[in-house]
Amino acid sequence: MTGKNSPSLLQKKIEELQSERERQAVLFNQIWKSQKWWQSVIDAIKDYIFVLDGDYRILRTNKAFANLFGREPADIIMAPYYELFGLKEPHEWCIVSEEKNRSCGGAVERKINDTFYLVSCFPIFHDQHDAVVYIMKDITETRRLKDQIYHMDKLSSLGTLTSGVAHEINNPLTGIIGYTEMLLMNEQGEPTRKYLKNIYESAIRCKKIVENMLTFSRQNPPHKNPEDINDIIDKTIELHEYWLKSTSIEIVKNYGEVPYTALDRQQMQQVVLNLIINAEHAISEKGVRGRIEFNTEYDRGHDSIVITISDNGAGVPPEILPKIFDPFFTTKPVNVGTGLGLSIAHGIIAEQGGTIEARSEIGKGTSFIITLPKMG
Ligand SMILES: Nc1ncnc2c1ncn2[C@@H]1O[C@H](COP(=O)(O)OP(=O)(O)O)[C@@H](O)[C@H]1O
Ligand SMILES: [Mg+2]
Repeated sequence: MTGKNSPSLLQKKIEELQSERERQAVLFNQIWKSQKWWQSVIDAIKDYIFVLDGDYRILRTNKAFANLFGREPADIIMAPYYELFGLKEPHEWCIVSEEKNRSCGGAVERKINDTFYLVSCFPIFHDQHDAVVYIMKDITETRRLKDQIYHMDKLSSLGTLTSGVAHEINNPLTGIIGYTEMLLMNEQGEPTRKYLKNIYESAIRCKKIVENMLTFSRQNPPHKNPEDINDIIDKTIELHEYWLKSTSIEIVKNYGEVPYTALDRQQMQQVVLNLIINAEHAISEKGVRGRIEFNTEYDRGHDSIVITISDNGAGVPPEILPKIFDPFFTTKPVNVGTGLGLSIAHGIIAEQGGTIEARSEIGKGTSFIITLPKMG
């Protein structure tokens, strides 16, 4: 027996091998755990993450990206990523070529299947395993809000513009009215007198419109005065008469005898106008001969004024009815709706110590019921 083959040496070798294997098992376990841990971290990210090799195949991905196509990450590993999007070749923003380090510049905004994404890419160079990490962020909602803010900004500059134009028109109008009055005071034969009367009446009508526009676009802090709600509704309808006529919407007024109430006139006009415009939209959506009804009455039991504005438009589906007073809630395209009309109306009415609620029946129409306290 040589020393080499002595049982103690062999035993030692076996033990060494065993402990090496155990050490490797521990290491392997640690790597596996660490991998799982990192996978959980990227799965916790709700943006869409995927890593591509040089042939556009998916090396890694997170749950969110796989779920976007109704799959699990394991199902799509090594699949060409563009096939998931139903394409035959990669998107123009997807670059995995030699030049990727130069091409992965800033993030790009792209619309894919009706959703807006912000796509950014980061190349990784590691040994021979070059790859590119892609991150896609759904920015549809952010874009919608941005568009809406832009639209609101436009509306507020339109308000300033309107009051400027109204002031400019007011001066020549005063001239027209004054001179026509003077001419009418002198002896005039027919038909001149008839023509002058026509000019005078039309100019007075223009003046009324301009005055209403000025009241409406002035941006003052709330200023409460005793007001007659029936008159406020009348003036608001007058302000909007042209549009109501052009869409041939019938206006029905059922005014009751109501006491005065302390209101900011301009703000109340804004509430009524918002409700009229919403009614018009609902009517045109349904495509019927439109009717808007204005009811006012005094509720003696509760000592309050009740205003009901009803339309025969499309109606509000029951599932969205609880949301319509929420700021930014809209079912209309960006250039039509801001989702602010009803939330502003709600704010104004609450500020006056009143309430506003909606009742609606799909296909039949919608009613908004406002209650306001009688003047104290
Ligand atoms: N008279 C109405 N008839 C039907 N739906 C309405 C009516 N008024 C409001 N709505 C619904 O409520 C939503 C919110 O209204 P609003 O706050 O005025 O915002 P916007 O009119 O800008 O959408 C509308 O998008 C619409 O879906
Ligand atoms: Mg509205």
